[in-house]
Parts: sequence; structure tokens; C-alpha cells
Amino acid sequence: MNSSMEISVEHAANGEQDSVLTDQVASPALDDEKILVSVEVCMTSSSTAREEDVKSAVERMLEKRSLSYSAGSIPVPAEDKFLTENVNKIQICDPDECEHNHKVLLFWQVKPVVHVYQLCEEGPGEELSGEDDLASFNEWMLPAKEFDGLWESLVYETGLKRRLLRYAASALLFSERGVNPCLVSWNRIILLHGPPGTGKTSLCKALSQKLSIRFKSRFTQCQLVEVNAHSLFSKWFSESGKLVAKLFQKIHEMVEEESCLVFVLIDEVESLAAARKAALSGSEPSDSIRVVNALLTQMDRLKSFPNVVILTTSNITTAIDIAFVDRADIKAYVGPPPLPARYEILRSCVQELIRARVIVPSQECGDDFTLPSFTVSRETPSQSQRPADIMARSLLQVAKDCEGLSGRSLRKMPFLAHAALTDPRCCDLTKFLCALVETARREVAEILSS
Ligand SMILES: Nc1ncnc2c1ncn2[C@@H]1O[C@H](COP(=O)(O)OP(=O)(O)OP(=O)(O)O)[C@@H](O)[C@H]1O
Ligand SMILES: [Mg+2]
Repeated sequence: MNSSMEISVEHAANGEQDSVLTDQVASPALDDEKILVSVEVCMTSSSTAREEDVKSAVERMLEKRSLSYSAGSIPVPAEDKFLTENVNKIQICDPDECEHNHKVLLFWQVKPVVHVYQLCEEGPGEELSGEDDLASFNEWMLPAKEFDGLWESLVYETGLKRRLLRYAASALLFSERGVNPCLVSWNRIILLHGPPGTGKTSLCKALSQKLSIRFKSRFTQCQLVEVNAHSLFSKWFSESGKLVAKLFQKIHEMVEEESCLVFVLIDEVESLAAARKAALSGSEPSDSIRVVNALLTQMDRLKSFPNVVILTTSNITTAIDIAFVDRADIKAYVGPPPLPARYEILRSCVQELIRARVIVPSQECGDDFTLPSFTVSRETPSQSQRPADIMARSLLQVAKDCEGLSGRSLRKMPFLAHAALTDPRCCDLTKFLCALVETARREVAEILSS
């Protein structure tokens, strides 16, 4: 279970039931002050049941169970034939404010908000930019199978995911309610910037997926268009002009459909700034500036549509000198993961290798072995000799040694450790963790010296 999973927690007294707009969480003592907790229900790909029917069935099931609410999947009850036939996964999303205060939510304190969805299995549609067949943009129908579980797999400093989710939810709510932008100004532009491999692109995709699930009842269709700014601008600019026009024509067609929610992801947005600068200094063909400006104008036009969210990423950690980025409402720095996040990333890797039977816990660990979460591992006495606690201490050591490494490097570490084993066919967990400690030290030394 991922302790840093984020959710929408709403105040039932103020809240829209189908909204993800969040508010402060009051003490869940009174009936009318129940805490709204999102429950996401994934239907099977073959299911033809109506979403409303599945929703009612899950609500009935939750009413019957005396459930304590903590993040993670709950089993689909075997005795409920309708649910077992139509539902793949029921996920309770993390009421993180409450967990933070070490409060456990009991069923009578909670009002579940059920979101039902079915994953789209189509895969991305690609648009090639010609010549060397480099994709200039990809598009996905959301929620997409590729992004299933992505949100939960990403671990950052506390609060980042929640902040983004709340921000996007507020922006969409303001648009939907027709708040006058001359009086209250907001844009639906998010910029995530930070060093390579820290999960910026993944977070944009995961956020789009999450919002497509949470806003299911308002928008019948959701799409993500991923634009590779670098591939647009590494071309001859006369070609780029055509590509930009084609791209935005397509996006405009999508957003004109009011019931369609469109996410536009522009990766490596700094290449726009570079193109603009080069054009101004005369080192690029003169029409390049027109192309860059056309793109900025197109983005401005897009902003007037209430059903668009623009997500941008950049590797430049200092200020990005580009007109539209100034208008981003949220500029979040995504840095290397802090210790709790490093531990959780590594723990999820080890857990996955156990699931796939690449590594095997020893017999005394018992069946269904799980490594303790960061919080639990911190709370256990340092002299505890329980196998799980000893292993958690090794993993914590690796997490400490990996300070400064990106999420991408961390996710590679268990693979490198496995490859370093002398007999990789059947690997005991304890041996694997020793290899992991050594690999981490070696890798960190190499990365820091390079
Ligand atoms: N904070 C994190 N938590 C979990 N996994 C992470 C994290 N950061 C990175 N990863 C892993 O690293 C991989 C690369 O992440 P991603 O491509 O999103 O990074 P990025 O910041 O966009 O990198 P770049 O700046 O090079 O484009 C992801 O597939 C993800 O598995
Ligand atoms: Mg990226």
C-alpha cells in the first residue's frame, strides 16, 4: 500500500458529490460532517454493464461492509456475482490529511464518492512529422490502459500530487461554473520543472488519467495529446509551421466538443524558448519566430476553452524565459525524491520482483510477505529481529545511500543489483538486498563522480 497516494477529501456539508474539489477536512465526528473519500472502480474490459448500475452496486456493497478506510485496493466480494463479473478493481484513495494525523477513518465517518470507469485499450494514436518519422505528437483516449496504476506508482515530497489534483479540479470547476476571468483570473496551465528523470512527464500523464476518472460524470470523453516540442522545433521551420497548424487544428476540433475534456502535454517546453531566442538573435531562419509566436497565440486561444488543461514540463530548473510560461498558474519544482519517497520507490520495486517470483523471501517470512512501509519501518524498534524489520533496515540504508538520485535511477537500481548476482536464477530476498546495498553504493559513487 502506498502511503503517499493522494486523494480528494471533501467536506460533505460544502461539497459537490461528484467533484474532486477539495476543502479542509474537519473532524469527522458529526453526521453532516462526514469526510468524502474517493472510491475508484475499474470495470473489466469485457463488461457491458451500465456505469450507473455498477456505481449503485458498489455503493450498496460499501454500505453493507463495516470497512475502515485506508488507501489501497479492496477485494471485489466473491459472493456478489454482478460485481465479480463486471469489476476488475476497487480502489480506495488515500485520505492523506487524516493519515497524516494518524487518524483511521471508520465507515461511519466516511461518505464514499464512487467513480466508475473502464480503461481504453486502444493505445496511442501517433502523428508523424515526416522525414525521419519522429512522432511530433501522440494522443490517447483516457483513462488509458497504459497509465493504469501510474499515479499510485509515483512518489514525491508530501503534498505535491494533492496540490496538483486540487489545483486542476478548482480550475475545471471555475470554468464549468462560468467564473468571469476578468474578475478572477486563472489559467489552466501547469508547469513542472526539475532535473531529468524525476517523474515530470509521468506525473502529467498520471494527473490527466486521474482527472479523467474523477470528472467522468461531467465529460463523456477525455483525451490526452502529447506534443514533443523538441521534435517540432528541430525541423526546418517551414515544416514546423505546417505541423503546428495541423496539431492545433486537431486540438481545436477536440475542444469544440464541450463534453470532451482535453489535456495538452508539452514536454521539453524549453526548446520553445531556445527556438525563440535563436530566432531573435538571427541564427535561425526568419520565419522561425513566426512559428514560435503562432504556437503561443494558438495556446492563448486554447485557454479560452473551459475544457482544456495545458501541462508543460521542462528540465531547466532556473527561470524559463518564455511568455506563456509566465502565465502558468502552478509552477511546481519536481526534485529528486526525499528519503521517504526513495524508500517507497525501492520498496515497490522489491515487492514487484517478489510478485514476479524473481526473488523469493525465505520461509520464515511466511506467505504473502510485504516489506513494511516507510512510516512503519521508522516506528519499529531498531533492535527488532523480525525478518521484515531486518530487511526494512537494509532497504532504508539503500534509500539513505541514494540521496540525490532521480526516481528514474532508483527504479533501475534493483535491475542492476539482480544483474550483479552470481546465481540470478533463484534469488533469496536477503541475498538480493545485500546486492542492492552494494550496487547502490557503486552507482552513487559513479554518478557523483561523473
Ligand atoms: N518520483 C518518482 N516516483 C516513482 N517513480 C519515478 C519518480 N520519478 C521518476 N520515476 C520513474 O522514472 C521514469 C522516468 O520518469 P519521467 O520520464 O516521467 O521523468 P522526467 O522528469 O519527465 O524526465 P526528463 O526530464 O528526462 O524528461 C518513470 O517511468 C518512473 O517510473
Ligand atoms: Mg520528461
